[in-house]
Amino acid sequence: MASQQHMNETPEADARDRVIIFDTTLRDGEQSPGASMTLDEKLEVAALLDEMGVDVIEAGFPIASEGDFESVSAIAKLVKNASVCGLARASFKDIDRAAEALKGAVRPRIHTFVSTSPLHMKYKLQKEPEEVLAMVTAQVLRARNHVEDVEWSAEDGTRTEMDFLCRCVEAAIRAGATTINIPDTVGYTVPDEYEHIFRTVRERVPNADKAIFSVHCHNDLGLAVANTLAGVRGGARQIECTINGIGERAGNAALEEVVMALRTRADVLPYSNRIETPMLMRASKLVSAVTSFPVQYNKAIVGRNAFAHESGIHQDGMLKNAQTYEIMTPESVGVSKTSLVMGKHSGRHAFKEKLRELGYTLGDNALEDAFKRFKDLADRKKIVYDEDLEALVDDEIGHAGERIKVAALSVIAGTLGPQSATLTLDIDGKQSTHHSTGNGPVDAIFNCIHALVPHTAVLELYQVHAVTEGTDAQAEVSVRLHEDGRSVTAKGADPDTLVASARAYIAALDKLMVKRLRSRPEEIEPGVRSVTP
Ligand code: KIV
Ligand code: ZN
Repeated sequence: MASQQHMNETPEADARDRVIIFDTTLRDGEQSPGASMTLDEKLEVAALLDEMGVDVIEAGFPIASEGDFESVSAIAKLVKNASVCGLARASFKDIDRAAEALKGAVRPRIHTFVSTSPLHMKYKLQKEPEEVLAMVTAQVLRARNHVEDVEWSAEDGTRTEMDFLCRCVEAAIRAGATTINIPDTVGYTVPDEYEHIFRTVRERVPNADKAIFSVHCHNDLGLAVANTLAGVRGGARQIECTINGIGERAGNAALEEVVMALRTRADVLPYSNRIETPMLMRASKLVSAVTSFPVQYNKAIVGRNAFAHESGIHQDGMLKNAQTYEIMTPESVGVSKTSLVMGKHSGRHAFKEKLRELGYTLGDNALEDAFKRFKDLADRKKIVYDEDLEALVDDEIGHAGERIKVAALSVIAGTLGPQSATLTLDIDGKQSTHHSTGNGPVDAIFNCIHALVPHTAVLELYQVHAVTEGTDAQAEVSVRLHEDGRSVTAKGADPDTLVASARAYIAALDKLMVKRLRSRPEEIEPGVRSVTP
């Protein structure tokens, strides 16, 4: 049996081929129905990807909307280490717009694509192959007029005729493309076939050595990660992937799965990369929170059960030697080994240390506030898990500087009705109370908020997750509000789902208010009483 790369050791990087990790969470990932992110959320994700060691961040599709343009532009200015990439179709307008959005990037890349399969050319583009071939040269030349780093993709590459694919790839490289991507756009290929495509194209295209080849796999048949690794065996040295595998339809290859496969099976996959794997869990949680896409419990690497052992036989084996049932350490992906350590007897020092372990560094005031909330939680809840603490601190950070706070809430729920809520909000230090009925307790609470903080925002999403298990689990509520073309998402956490709901709604209103004031700064007056967002 091959020897197991179990611990945190990083195999010798220079002894192996380096693969470039290209993250497209903010572009292909954001194309998942319902996964749209706000500008601030995208910036937060981009900063984390950069810190985690991603080589290329595909930040969006600048021509798609004003919002996409703005986010690519802001990410281009923010990111200092990774290349920042903007997507463009084979049109000069698209390419020029992408170039415009990338101004200010330390390492800008334009990624331009065109369909090359018979099906796509005939029905989607309604063009002859020779016309498409001419487009390839024209689009790459146009992109090269703007930047040196140009990626060209053969959309629906895995269903493209080999001769034509080779001609297109040769033309793209001749025109100056530095990366050639052969995507499995519809998740149709299988590992052997995908490997063979890369081997053949690299052998047959005379100038193939002048470009880096890239894999981009969709998961329609659940083969995205397997196909990705096969493409690398076939000679590709760039991997396109997304956090949590989000993306069009069934999604893309999951970054965390690809990276941990490379790391864990370095004996048969000898390719290095720069990803700081202990940050994978945080990245997963962040993307899940900002998209409100939950991570399935049994998801590889970052699912909550990925390092949980339930059966007696497995627990017994684990206690004797962790390698009996774990092929990676939890720490190597950012999951702390023990999750039952914090309780009501824990002190400030242990709390601070625990937060540091979970990757949080809070200032003194925020730490003190978070500690008070932790003590309160520990009094009400038997066990405080790591996830509870993360929810609590995320909530605390999200509330820093807030103008509206939930001061008190009581609710009448149940079958007798009418369901009603009495809510006291602390608004800029002054308390106001309102009582309202509703179609259920959550509706009653939201009606109270409406009365106390009049606004025109529309509730787009209301989602409840149990952060940990058991009836005393902390509830984490996500709320998305939309107003005047602006969307914001916010979370609230509390063992009481209704309190968490109120907190989440208020946090979202707070964010909307900040956005409104940012766009109309003349309304920012110290001590203003009106908090209408
Ligand atoms: O799946 C695909 O083909 C794409 C291209 C734009 C690269 O996402
Ligand atoms: Zn794709």
